[in-house]
Amino acid sequence: MRILVTGGAGYVGGFAARHLLAAGHEIAVVDNLSEGHRASIPAEHFYEGEIADRALVARVIREHDIEAVMHFAAFAYVGVSMERPREYYRNNVADTLTLLETMLDSGVKRIVFSSTCSTYGETAEMPLCEDSLQQPSNTYAFTKYCIERMIQDFSRAYGLSHVLLRYFNAAGAAADGSYGEDHRPETHLIPLVLQTLLGQRDKVSVFGDDYPTPDGTCIRDYIHVEDLATIHALAIGWCGDAKPGRGQVFNVGTGSGSSVMEVIRAAESVTGRAVPHEIVARRAGDPPRLVASCDKARRELGWEPRYVALKDIVATAWKWHEKHPDGYPDEDRDGGKPE
Ligand SMILES: NC(=O)c1ccc[n+]([C@@H]2O[C@H](COP(=O)([O-])OP(=O)(O)OC[C@H]3O[C@@H](n4cnc5c(N)ncnc54)[C@H](O)[C@@H]3O)[C@@H](O)[C@H]2O)c1
Repeated sequence: MRILVTGGAGYVGGFAARHLLAAGHEIAVVDNLSEGHRASIPAEHFYEGEIADRALVARVIREHDIEAVMHFAAFAYVGVSMERPREYYRNNVADTLTLLETMLDSGVKRIVFSSTCSTYGETAEMPLCEDSLQQPSNTYAFTKYCIERMIQDFSRAYGLSHVLLRYFNAAGAAADGSYGEDHRPETHLIPLVLQTLLGQRDKVSVFGDDYPTPDGTCIRDYIHVEDLATIHALAIGWCGDAKPGRGQVFNVGTGSGSSVMEVIRAAESVTGRAVPHEIVARRAGDPPRLVASCDKARRELGWEPRYVALKDIVATAWKWHEKHPDGYPDEDRDGGKPE
């Protein structure tokens, strides 16, 4: 297929874009580099710009005869979203509305959207199924929830076929260490642990060890970014075959959770080094356990994650961080990103 990838210079979008190219799809990436990295995308496929730039997006759709959109572009820091909600509603919700309008005006009616498990909010129900109650508890999650609803409404009214993918915790890197995660600031646990091992941070803060989990620390479902890439390819295939107006929602995790201490122990086992860490107070709004039920994606897309052992996920991430301690070259970063 010919696919427009928004946010394709970012972490997950970059892996998906490279996977699509390897699978023989044609892609065009639009990314404003507020967070992403030019180095992760071959130059001939890349357009620097805003998803809300109607003229640019319409031109890319026209010139590449685009058939479908994979929409990764977003701001994704929970803490910043609570301090600067205006930027999050503008960038995530309003700019996605403009993107959807441009798609419709250009006759493109297929979309795969990057949603998040955090749209479920704090809930005791585990594992989380696609029809579990959604009650987002922070601005970032709420923007993603709004976009889900917007796409579903557009689907019903204008015949968009769509797949909403609710990722759990994306993690890991290319097996050869060539590409990986480089968020600035970094907020994700596995890179924080590995940056600590590289001496870039003093220690890892473990937010609470008195949760009702076996070792008292929070449990999350880590999904390898290559497995995320493969489900995107299956999802876009589903959209291609779907009747206009049809849609699907899938959780994307492994279905098994790992605690913060298990992540630290896995990193120690992969690297043979001790991870300096300290237990600090709980963070507000951190649910004790977030684990996906992924039966639906298995059943309906035939998707199966290849990386199921936490240690294997951490090993790929370590390879990337060891080879690229400073991440991607950063000549493009202009301070326009959230701090
Ligand atoms: N990483 C995770 O664990 C995770 C979990 C759940 C959901 N998600 C969602 O998946 C998507 C990708 O996440 P990621 O970790 O790769 O994030 P990322 O920040 O690495 O990538 C997002 C990309 O979008 C670009 N971008 C942002 N706003 C833009 C705009 N208005 N116009 C053009 N480009 C813009 C950024 O420059 C960046 O390259 C996001 O939508 C995020 O909300 C990520």
